[in-house]
Amino acid sequence: MVLESLHFSRDGGLEVLDQLQVPQKKTYIRVKDSQDAWTVVRNMQVRGAPLLAMVSALGLAVEALERAKAKREGAAEWLRERMSFLKTSRPTAVNLFNTMDALGKVVEDAVASGRNDQQIYHAYADAAEQMLEEDVKANKAIGDAGADAILAAMKAAGRDGAARVMTICNTGALATAGWGTALGVLRTLHARGKLERAYCLETRPYNQGARLTAFELVEDGLPGTLICDSMAAALMQRCGLDACIVGADRVVANGDSANKIGTYSLAVLSRHHGVPFYVAAPLTTLDVNLKHGSEIPIEERPDEELCSLKVEGVSHRVAAPGIGVWNPAFDVTPASLISGIVTDCGLIPKRSQDFDVAAFVPEKKR
Ligand code: MRU
Repeated sequence: MVLESLHFSRDGGLEVLDQLQVPQKKTYIRVKDSQDAWTVVRNMQVRGAPLLAMVSALGLAVEALERAKAKREGAAEWLRERMSFLKTSRPTAVNLFNTMDALGKVVEDAVASGRNDQQIYHAYADAAEQMLEEDVKANKAIGDAGADAILAAMKAAGRDGAARVMTICNTGALATAGWGTALGVLRTLHARGKLERAYCLETRPYNQGARLTAFELVEDGLPGTLICDSMAAALMQRCGLDACIVGADRVVANGDSANKIGTYSLAVLSRHHGVPFYVAAPLTTLDVNLKHGSEIPIEERPDEELCSLKVEGVSHRVAAPGIGVWNPAFDVTPASLISGIVTDCGLIPKRSQDFDVAAFVPEKKR
């Protein structure tokens, strides 16, 4: 059985895979309303920038449809309040904010065109459902554009054949509605017979690489090798690598990109070893309201997550009690270290040291 990050239908409601239990257990939990959606996102039971936006949007859709059935009044005010609440779960991935803002526009348009409460609830739910389909399409497009970019870079470096590619965190079907962003590029390379090996970093402290990416590689029969984060430099030095590809939680106007902690180290190592370094992200991950990466809010997670290993939801303390802890969940890779930013609308134009994200967004959204 292929694991899916979520199941959604108008009649069946929403259930999500509890990712804290993978790969030991495959348990789906019901999300019956916006409060449940907020909780599964906050607790990391679902994670990955596109998925946490999707689960938030759909959790609220389920509740909106229930309210429509019960003929509850005040649809627009209620939806506005719930969307503001959903934005408070996690701060770094901009997909959540962009998605809520886009759905907010749907609600305001419905209000402006004189729709009644029932119609407003339904307009919201229709738009949220539509986003689910768009996410998978966007990921397939990223897969093609990313595979083309990596193969072109190999050719330019005089290397033919299949690619050896490193990635961090989980950016696959479990971080999205399906296929994945950076891991989607690896899937596309494999489908084209052009993936020699995918190297996935363990990704401390939450182990998304070891638990989720390794799981997806094995399930799909991709040639994969797991290494811990501190082995990346040695692998580049001793085995060679054709590219690194990572996901993103927020790409700002100059191309600076926030992603899972450890991504910046990987970009520095890639530059030192002459390895092309790519970021793969859908348009919903772009934030042209911020000019520089230093403006991106970086989530800090509880000490417990660094001091303990969690297996099947049970914590086992490994760090010495009493030690001080700093646990940022993300870091920012400067645009100057990024060779290409791959989106569902192709590569963002690169200037000498950064990217023109602002010029790209309006053009591609027209
Ligand atoms: O803390 P997480 O697991 O939500 O972080 C996820 C990542 O950093 C991913 O690489 C990023 O969201 C891109 S997901 C396609």
